[in-house]
Amino acid sequence: MERFVIDGRKPLSGEVKIGGSKNAALPILAATLLSESPSTIHNIPDLLDVNTMILVLQSLGVKIQKLGPGTYHIYPDSLNKSDAPYELIRKMRASFLVTGPLISRLRKAQVPLPGGCAIGSRPIDLHIKGFLHMGVQVSMSSGYVEAWADDLHGGEIYLDFPSVGATENIIMLASVVPGDTVIANAAREPEIINLAGFLTAMGARIEGAGTDTIIIHGVRRLNGCDYAIMNDRIEAGTFCVAAAITGGEVVVRGINPLVMRFVTTKLEEVGAKIENVGEDALFVSLKNRPRATDIKTMPYPGFPTDMQAQFMTLLCLTDGVSVVTETVFENRFAHVGELERMGINIKVEGRSAVVVGVEKLTGAQVTATDLRAGAALVMAGIAAEGRTEVYGISHVDRGYANLEEKLRILGASIVRVNE
Ligand code: UD1
Repeated sequence: MERFVIDGRKPLSGEVKIGGSKNAALPILAATLLSESPSTIHNIPDLLDVNTMILVLQSLGVKIQKLGPGTYHIYPDSLNKSDAPYELIRKMRASFLVTGPLISRLRKAQVPLPGGCAIGSRPIDLHIKGFLHMGVQVSMSSGYVEAWADDLHGGEIYLDFPSVGATENIIMLASVVPGDTVIANAAREPEIINLAGFLTAMGARIEGAGTDTIIIHGVRRLNGCDYAIMNDRIEAGTFCVAAAITGGEVVVRGINPLVMRFVTTKLEEVGAKIENVGEDALFVSLKNRPRATDIKTMPYPGFPTDMQAQFMTLLCLTDGVSVVTETVFENRFAHVGELERMGINIKVEGRSAVVVGVEKLTGAQVTATDLRAGAALVMAGIAAEGRTEVYGISHVDRGYANLEEKLRILGASIVRVNE
């Protein structure tokens, strides 16, 4: 069975280059459907989830040409199907992002209720609420969302929670419906700004992306464009933790330090030294045993839920007691059960976990159950004494390109074994 075999306790050093952002690439690929003209997208990361989105677009009739590493030419004029296939959508929740663009282009969409990581119920009611306010009619049966629209128009939408996906689906559809749309309590993630940048390059008129109120002035049509995806702040955060947890010294390059404050502030609290290196890199080192601190996941600019599992692994090695509170997803502590095999001391109570620091982790066989849990187990493996084998690494491949290769360049002993 495929797994990572890791011999831990090697301090990382050197420089790592961060790649394109998964969470920016997925909505932007879906957004190419909004125009009939081709777009060229650069810096698309080579990940399983990106492949799934490409397969979804192809299943809808779109032609896609890979021009080189990370660069794709997308021809959406051949879009001819409004029903997305279950076998692809069930693999990844983000594939539901084709729904807004399908409604705009074909005035109808049939999309299965999405799957994705096993980290909570993850409903799509807020996406639907947004569509309804723009004149879309929606019915749900047999596990499918069926949407159709004869009379699309702008609307005023209040999101009960600043959902990233709902904000994205609504911005995309609103870009090409007649009239103005206002999204109140919108998600403020940098990936929303990147999507709005792409749509603006296509000719959309969007104000306020990156704030909690986004106003979209609908235009008649969008054109194709040439656009580069931002780099991945979660990959960058994971390498910052990797540097700290091994007591290393690493330059994480290719990321705007401003979007990394969520993790750098917390790393400083545990005693790490952080320095900005120019405008696109961070130096991270941690020489002493980390100090305990609390983290609470929140929508951006709060501490991201996608960094919770990796950071919790670092907190396992502090000299005190930390509390980790997960407020975004209801079931995102699956890594705790696996980390227990490696000697941690954590007690989960509802949405909080009390982490009592231990002096060391010991290598063990463990299994990833979701993407970031998998990353957390790799973090534990590179910090642990002895050998760790991480199974279930297809979860890791969903969101990290060449994780093991990048860690190896920094001095970790990690290989992918398939036997
Ligand atoms: C995106 C990210 C994911 C990240 C998450 C939160 C992508 C491709 N994925 O996922 O990596 O962990 O943001 O930062 O960008 N919710 C509802 N109703 C809805 C939609 C969401 O109740 O209609 C709830 C969810 O169940 C969850 C919370 O809102 O508890 C956050 O979900 P959301 O922000 O939508 O996450 P995603 O867009 O799925």
